[in-house]
Amino acid sequence: MADWVTAVVPAAGRGVRMGTGVPKQFLTLGDIPLLVHALRTFEASLIISEIILVVPQDDCQYCRETIVPSHGLTKVSQVVAGGRRRQDSVLNGVQAAKSTTEILVIHDAVRPFVSSMMITQVVEAARQHGAAIVAIPMRDTVKQVNPDGVITHTLNRDELWLAQTPQAFRYELLLQAHQQGKADEVEATDDAFLVERLGRSVAIVQGSSDNIKVTRPEDLHMGQAILTAKRSASCP
Ligand code: C5P
Repeated sequence: MADWVTAVVPAAGRGVRMGTGVPKQFLTLGDIPLLVHALRTFEASLIISEIILVVPQDDCQYCRETIVPSHGLTKVSQVVAGGRRRQDSVLNGVQAAKSTTEILVIHDAVRPFVSSMMITQVVEAARQHGAAIVAIPMRDTVKQVNPDGVITHTLNRDELWLAQTPQAFRYELLLQAHQQGKADEVEATDDAFLVERLGRSVAIVQGSSDNIKVTRPEDLHMGQAILTAKRSASCP
């Protein structure tokens, strides 16, 4: 099926760093669970054909019966169980996608402020180059530090970018990259790395400093501030 674009949204983390009993993706931001913000943006994107949501095994039923229907997420075609690491969860989602999928877009559920424009641009770049990610240029100076707490290098900031999600790939390329990563027992904190190690190039699409990852309690405060600013900008 040409032009079929599937979003895989990993939301199967345990939220250990958040220090709450509830996984962070189910905490409330504004008036809805954190993961619903990103899911709504993917739902509304005209470029997205379907969404595969990956959640902890124990939350599959809650998501199928409550989260998905109560937030009108009609494009969520499957809710699948995640794995131990993020890359295991993404692979479960990728393997659930149909083999006729053209492009897979991977987006962390805990980045609530993904925009429709980012999704469109990263998918278009993946169609052109095979693989593309949203990223922002590094503004701070970055030091490499040894275990004794002493600086060993100052890196060239002009060459450094911070990787975000969404990240988009041609279907066969991402499936191959994940399967190879698994066979080689590679640890990967994002999907692009698994593609890079195959020697394939990955394009960059400009992201946004608002596209934060909510990982720690203070990120939730930052998320609330961004949400308030966005809401007052849209309703002056
Ligand atoms: O691990 P990290 O904090 O970078 O999480 C990024 C995303 O990956 C989150 O949306 C989280 O729920 C998801 N994740 C997952 N399965 C895991 C670990 C993290 O789906 N085992």
